Amino acid sequence: MNFLIVILVLISFIAFRFYQKIRVPEGLKNVPTLSLLDLLIEMYNKVGPDKRWEDIREILEKEGIGRIWFNGRWILIVTDLELVKDVITRTDLYPKALLEEFFPGSLLAQYYGTNVVFSNGDDWKRHRRIANPSFRNLPIYVFVESAMKLLDVMERVDNKPIEVKSLMHGLTLDVLGKSAFGFDFNNLEEPNNVYVTTFNEVMEELGKQIYFLMSFLEYIIPRTKAIEKVEKLNNLYDRIVEKKSKSLKTGEIDKKIENNSADLLEHMIHACNDPENQTLTSEELRHNLAIFMLAGHDTTANSLTTILYLLAVHKDVQKKVRDEILHVLGDDLTPNSEQQKELKYMNMVINENLRLYPPVATLPRRFTSQEIKFRNYVIPAKTPIVLFIYGIHHSSKNWEDPEKFIPERFENEKHDHYAWLSFGGGNRLCLGINFSLIEQRIMLCAILRKYEVSLPADSIHKDKLKLAPECSGTMGPHPVPLIFKRRTE
Ligand code: HEM
Repeated sequence: MNFLIVILVLISFIAFRFYQKIRVPEGLKNVPTLSLLDLLIEMYNKVGPDKRWEDIREILEKEGIGRIWFNGRWILIVTDLELVKDVITRTDLYPKALLEEFFPGSLLAQYYGTNVVFSNGDDWKRHRRIANPSFRNLPIYVFVESAMKLLDVMERVDNKPIEVKSLMHGLTLDVLGKSAFGFDFNNLEEPNNVYVTTFNEVMEELGKQIYFLMSFLEYIIPRTKAIEKVEKLNNLYDRIVEKKSKSLKTGEIDKKIENNSADLLEHMIHACNDPENQTLTSEELRHNLAIFMLAGHDTTANSLTTILYLLAVHKDVQKKVRDEILHVLGDDLTPNSEQQKELKYMNMVINENLRLYPPVATLPRRFTSQEIKFRNYVIPAKTPIVLFIYGIHHSSKNWEDPEKFIPERFENEKHDHYAWLSFGGGNRLCLGINFSLIEQRIMLCAILRKYEVSLPADSIHKDKLKLAPECSGTMGPHPVPLIFKRRTE
């Protein structure tokens, strides 16, 4: 009898805890529900954010907000521009969800730690102050050298379509390795070397969806192999941080900064030495390197891939961009900073590409630090909020003919400021905007003046670009083979 009572009490307790978890908070009861089943089917079918948008478009275009029960809590998905603006600009009310808080002790949290992307308040200010000077003094020569190497590699491919996605991933990894910490991954020339494979394996491990869906799994089955790979990459970063920290004492870093050849890490180590700044530890420097490699690699690679696809499909736009390049650059192979400003049409095409295919399709999660009133809803404190950038960019409330590729819509920037969020906004605006835009312009100039780009007749993308699921916070297409025909004029 006693045993039965214990069992009943236990079941009631579990049922009560479960009810507490799934119970909709009073103030969110009127927020429309987004189907968890649809989301699970999307995850199972490994579809991209375009399919997700198709499934939730009706609700979000009408209400601008929806709630979904996921991983044990109610999360708000937002596209309403008024709330979007509030979230972006009021970082005290909507701090970022930190990895260690949401996935305590996880491999993800250990690898990225606290860094300029995942930190809040004074901690974030400390990281951002140290990182800022690096992004004001970019080693542009690295971009130009890499563009030349890219052309060399392309030249060796004879009359066959080139798979652009992996080529661009190779390119941007090389650019980032060299500009962030002076390390040549040499992915373009040697895609199977040990550093490239280790980096790619770590990214694959950290991007595994199953651990986002069921984070508890990580505590049940130890990820020994994945941990070994992460340690290998961390050792590389640690060795580089140590070596460069020593070179500060010999005056080598000062010299490099003077002649504008310092990499991002050297600028950061230099900034740590400034008595005006609060310093970062060697471990924090390493965490920042790890996050730069995430934030700046797939994002720019996917942008370059989708823009080459768009140019291949829209030959008239391709011609217009090329004519502009030839006009502005004359005999120069790559644009200097003045010429980059003159590439007005190319800049519109880049913006429109980032609108149609934003590499960060959902902004990293925020949560409310206190109760917030929005319309007739009351959002309780600690509610997770996700801004769905793909939806904001594809909503007919914000854009006329949102699915059409129309670079001219950026001619006079008539759109609502918060309707184009490719690089985020407010004081958490992407630190690497210029890094990425300069890299994209240099690569496009180099490629387009030499090649005419087209889509093979049998391409899987001939009707529509097929998007892959988001991986480690970035979205991009499935592999895109394109034909590059050498220009004769
Ligand atoms: C097309 C390329 C890129 C896109 C679309 C992009 C997008 C974004 C977005 C949407 C954010 C805001 C995240 C948030 O508010 O939670 C962000 C932040 C950031 N990005 Fe980028 N990014 C790109 C390239 C880069 C590159 C090349 C780097 C560095 C090498 C970089 C470094 C950062 C950093 C450090 C932050 C955090 C800024 C802060 O919170 O203070 N990004 N990026």
